[in-house]
Amino acid sequence: MHWQLPIRQLSLLHKKHSVMETILLSDNDAELLKAAQFIKDGEIVGIPTETVYGLGADASNPDAVAKVFAAKGRPADNPLIVHLADFSDAVHYTQNIPELAYKLAEKFCPGPLTMVLPKNEKIPMITSGGLDTVGIRVPSHPVMHKIIEMSGCPIAAPSANTSGYPSPTSAMHVMRDMKGKIAAVVDGGQSEFGVESTVISIESNDRVRILRPGCITREMLLEVCGEVIIDHAILHELEAGQKAASPGMKYKHYSPKADIIMVEGDIKSFCKYVEDKVDEKVYCLIYDGDEFTIPCKYLTYGKNSSEQAHWLFQKLRELDDIGAEKVYVRAPSADGVGLAVYNRLIRAAGFEVIRA
Ligand code: TXA
Ligand code: MG
Repeated sequence: MHWQLPIRQLSLLHKKHSVMETILLSDNDAELLKAAQFIKDGEIVGIPTETVYGLGADASNPDAVAKVFAAKGRPADNPLIVHLADFSDAVHYTQNIPELAYKLAEKFCPGPLTMVLPKNEKIPMITSGGLDTVGIRVPSHPVMHKIIEMSGCPIAAPSANTSGYPSPTSAMHVMRDMKGKIAAVVDGGQSEFGVESTVISIESNDRVRILRPGCITREMLLEVCGEVIIDHAILHELEAGQKAASPGMKYKHYSPKADIIMVEGDIKSFCKYVEDKVDEKVYCLIYDGDEFTIPCKYLTYGKNSSEQAHWLFQKLRELDDIGAEKVYVRAPSADGVGLAVYNRLIRAAGFEVIRA
């Protein structure tokens, strides 16, 4: 790490958290006020968004943010996204906002887009993982929106999973990972999109770079920008010593306990490949509607890219729950929203893809 955290935050970061009571809140206004109060008081709360559930803390309070890193077991150099009620609030936490950011915001905010912008002094170094930029996102989930407004805080929120594990798409997933470590979880129902926001950096007034693909696709961004670059690290493993455009690219991600093996090909060649590998603890994860012809246990994860984005993390968690040790996944298409699904799976699989 090239920057130094104050001793107090460092000790909070590595503190073994004592077990605390984690309460489940519903999404009525009285309960949301409780969630907002926890955040104002420097506590952390599991909160629903339209992408995945987040672990929310006051982004401007370094001690609260340190608790987020500790609860997740997250490396200190992996920055948090800051969530705002409206893009017009970005001026309070950033500087030199490029014209293109306003155009993008007009089209895609609120929604599943995070823009990396130069931060100002209101965002502490611990929140930005030591970087001089900050990811800004305006979520569209009405419950999340209310919590931001009620707290009056910019809310730093990484996905609410234990670091490395698949992101949570329901309040129950958050409880599983975070019970005893955080003050509360707000139940806002199943996340709509199911994969995290598209993260972009703005390289010129006509060009952006996708650092993490999501449901705002390259094609959608091209409606506003002349050029949209897909960062190499989205589909390829970083080589030793190579610098990541986004720190999150360095870390193993989205991995259930089971071993994930990605298999490219139609369902016929998929079945042929897996046929002689069937075992008690082996499962397949295939498309809805696939004609599955081998005696192997399986789950499905949707029939098109949007459905697969919605279900992927839920299914990866389910596979762990039912005791799968090895999972052959029929690779998704890498087009449109599919790129987000492909990106999560290839990381869960440690970049190994078999062409059947
Ligand atoms: O949909 C989402 O974005 C969810 C919900 C809760 O809003 N949040 C989320 O946060 O996925 P997290 O922390 O799990 O992932 C944030 C990603 C990481 O890969 C991080 O490295 C990258 O965004 N990121 C954050 N700030 C950045 C920055 N200043 N520069 C480059 N990458 C950044
Ligand atoms: Mg995450």
